Amino acid sequence: MRFGTIGTSWITSSFIDASRKATDFILKAVYSRSEMKAKAFAEKHQAAFIYTELEEMAKSEEIDCVYIASPNSLHFEHALLFLKNKKHVICEKPIFSNMEELKEAFQVAEENGVYLFEAIRNLHSPNFKALKNVIEKIGPVRAANLHRSRYSSKYNEYLSGGRPNVFSPEFSGGALTDLGIYPLYISTGLFGNPTQIDYSANVLDSGIDGSGTLTLGYDGFISTIMCSKISTSYIPCEIQGEKGTVVFEDAGTIKDLRWVDNETGQVTLIETYNMDDDMKFEINNFMRIISSNNKEEYQELKELSLLTLSITEEARRQNGIIYGCER
Ligand SMILES: NC(=O)c1ccc[n+]([C@@H]2O[C@H](COP(=O)([O-])OP(=O)(O)OC[C@H]3O[C@@H](n4cnc5c(N)ncnc54)[C@H](OP(=O)(O)O)[C@@H]3O)[C@@H](O)[C@H]2O)c1
Repeated sequence: MRFGTIGTSWITSSFIDASRKATDFILKAVYSRSEMKAKAFAEKHQAAFIYTELEEMAKSEEIDCVYIASPNSLHFEHALLFLKNKKHVICEKPIFSNMEELKEAFQVAEENGVYLFEAIRNLHSPNFKALKNVIEKIGPVRAANLHRSRYSSKYNEYLSGGRPNVFSPEFSGGALTDLGIYPLYISTGLFGNPTQIDYSANVLDSGIDGSGTLTLGYDGFISTIMCSKISTSYIPCEIQGEKGTVVFEDAGTIKDLRWVDNETGQVTLIETYNMDDDMKFEINNFMRIISSNNKEEYQELKELSLLTLSITEEARRQNGIIYGCER
């Protein structure tokens, strides 16, 4: 599969480095608003073509698929352009700003016979499968405490009067959609559709959530999701069942997975993948689904993206967080 990329920050580099370890990945083209940046990025990653006009890259016969890592608010416009030009799209999380955009983009993908995926690395990692398997050992789930809270280096810029994209409603930023989305995907991926959604956000002057706590009601338990970009958490995530508790570090990578048997107190360690190149799992999955035209698996991922975005949209609504594209 021949790829083009949008965005020249570290995450696009990570994606390219990890994808080279996946099967059938060829980097053909990179896009940047700046020609200088595009040249330097293409040289660093050995891409044959550079673009500073998105329309041109979208029309190019040299690529089959685009990876989008632009600021969140631009994902929709960028994705739509490539889908309409019959290119598959892998879009960084959070896929789009709202449900209206997501529904339209899935429709356009279908009309053009191409695929649209949300890149959410923890869901595609073998560690998520390991987590799913171990949950079965702990009996009926009674509580989930999941979180991702990291003081962002960009918060310093915000405090000095700047407006970094991820702290801006104009760019569809905020803690829940940037970091909370990892534990949220664990919750939706494991437990599905909640019956109740409550988000208490610490809304910053810019109008987005710097931190917050999302509680999702499920039959017999509450899944609590904490997220922050203005403070750091050091406590592990846990899922408590009647027979035992599953514990792990870092909702983004799901590492140091273990479960504790309530009756015996025995701690069982579960093997997990702990390398930085874990993005290769999502790319492998996406390419496998495309090449095998696996509609069933695609439908599952679509539904999960729709469910997850519907929750963050409701969470924003409850806290009066309105993005620039919605004003
Ligand atoms: N999966 C993960 O682990 C992970 C980690 C980090 C980020 N992400 C996601 O990746 C995406 C990008 O995040 P980021 O932190 O790299 O964002 P960013 O630094 O704000 O922007 C990413 C790229 O978009 C372009 N850009 C920046 N500001 C722009 C503007 N005002 N208008 C148009 N283009 C602009 C820049 O590329 P040029 O200057 O070259 O055009 C930049 O390299 C987000 O959706 C984020 O959620 C995912």
